[in-house]
Amino acid sequence: MTHTKYPIPMLDLLPVATTEAIRTHFPALERRYNGHAVAYFDGPGGTQVPRAVAEAMTDYLYQHNANTHWAYPTSEETDAALDAARHAVADFLNAAPAEVVFGNTMTTLTFHLARALGRRWQAGDEIVVTDLDHHANIDPWHDLAAERGLTVRAARMNTETGQLDWDHLESLLGPRTRLVAVGAASNALGTINDVRRVTERARAAGALSFIDAVHYAPHALVDVQAMGCDFLGCSAYKFYGPHAGMLYGRQDLLDALDVSKVKPARNTAPDRLETGTQNHEGIVGTAAAVDFLASLAEGTTRRTRLEATFEALHARGTAQVTRLWHGLAALDGVTLYGPPPGVPRTPTVAFTVRDHTAHAVSRLLAERGLFLSHGNFYAMTVVERLGVEGLVRAGGACYTTDEEIERLIEGVQAIVEGH
Ligand SMILES: Cc1ncc(COP(=O)(O)O)c(C=O)c1O
Repeated sequence: MTHTKYPIPMLDLLPVATTEAIRTHFPALERRYNGHAVAYFDGPGGTQVPRAVAEAMTDYLYQHNANTHWAYPTSEETDAALDAARHAVADFLNAAPAEVVFGNTMTTLTFHLARALGRRWQAGDEIVVTDLDHHANIDPWHDLAAERGLTVRAARMNTETGQLDWDHLESLLGPRTRLVAVGAASNALGTINDVRRVTERARAAGALSFIDAVHYAPHALVDVQAMGCDFLGCSAYKFYGPHAGMLYGRQDLLDALDVSKVKPARNTAPDRLETGTQNHEGIVGTAAAVDFLASLAEGTTRRTRLEATFEALHARGTAQVTRLWHGLAALDGVTLYGPPPGVPRTPTVAFTVRDHTAHAVSRLLAERGLFLSHGNFYAMTVVERLGVEGLVRAGGACYTTDEEIERLIEGVQAIVEGH
C-alpha cells in the first residue's frame, strides 16, 4: 500500500464528473477520421453510448434473455429487469413507474396514443400543434384529424427569435380544443419552450397536453410534475441510451384510454399500452443510460444525483453554446438561426454558410473529423418558415470539449475563407 503525504483529489469524489472523466466512458470518442480525432456534434440526431449501457444490454441478452411472466429464472429476471427499468425512467421523469410506457420510438408511441385519444373525440374537435415542432409531434395529430374529422390549428414561430408566437398559440385555444401538442425544446434551433405555460393554458381551456421532450431530455431534467403535462414522449438514444422510446401518461388517463390492444394482454396501465413483446435489451439499456447520468454526480437519491448532473451539464453547455454562437457570428457569410445565448436554449446551434449547401458544409467539416448533421431534421416546417434549403446543426453533448468547439469554429472559418 502506498501512502501519500497529501491527499490526492479523486475524480469520483468530485460533486460532478469532469468532461474528461465523462469522455473515458465513451469508446466512440477514440475514433479517428482522416487523421483527426472525431468530434461528435450530432447528438441531437443521436448521442454516443457509454460502455455501461452496451454492457447492460449485452448482459441482459447473454444471461437473462426470456419473455415475461413465466415461472423460471430467466423470465423472472426479465420481469425484474423491466420493473427496475421502469423505476429508473420514473426517477428520470419524476413520474410513478406505472406511468411509464415503453415502446419502439417516440414517433410510434405518439401515433399509438393519438389513435387511442381520437376514439373519444368528435368531428369538429380541435388539436393545437406548433410550427416549431419535429413532425413526430405534428403528423400523428394531422393523421388523426383526417381520419376523425378534427381540425388542427398550428401556432406560428417567430422566425427572428426561433421562439413560439405565444399570442398566436393562445388565440388558437378554444372550447373545442382537446389537445395542445408542443415540444419542450426544438431539435432544429435549440429553443426551450415554457412548457408550464402551455400546460396551464391547455388545462384552463379544458384540453390535454402532450409534450415532446425528445430534444429537451438530454439537456435539462424532465419533471412531469413541475411541467404539469398529461402526456410526454422521449427517446433514450438522444440521452446516451439505445434506440428505444418512452411515453409518460398520467395514471388515470392511461387507465382510461381506449387503446388498440390484443385481448390476452394485461389490461392495466402501463402494460395495456405496450403492444407485443417489448425491446427488453433496449429497455435495460435505457435504464443503464439513466443510471450513467445519475452516476456522474453525488446525491442521496437517483433523482437528486440526476438533478446535480443536469445542472452541471446545463452550465457547461451554456458556456459552450455562447462561445460557439459568438465565434460563428463573427464569420462573414455565416447565418445563425434560433435564440441567441441568454434565453432558454439547449446547446444546439443551427446555421448556414453563404454559397454552400448544408450538405456541402457538413461534408467539408467531416473531412476535419467534425461530425454534424444537416437538412431539416424532420422539423420540416421550421426550415420552410426560415426559407432555407436546409440547416447545418451543431449539437453539444456531455462529452463535448471546449477544444472541440474551437475546432468547429476554425472549421467553419476555413470554409468561409475557401481553404
Ligand atoms: C424533437 C424530436 N421529437 C421527436 C423525435 C422523434 O423521435 P423518435 O426517433 O424516437 O421517434 C426526434 C428525433 O429526432 C426529435 O428530435
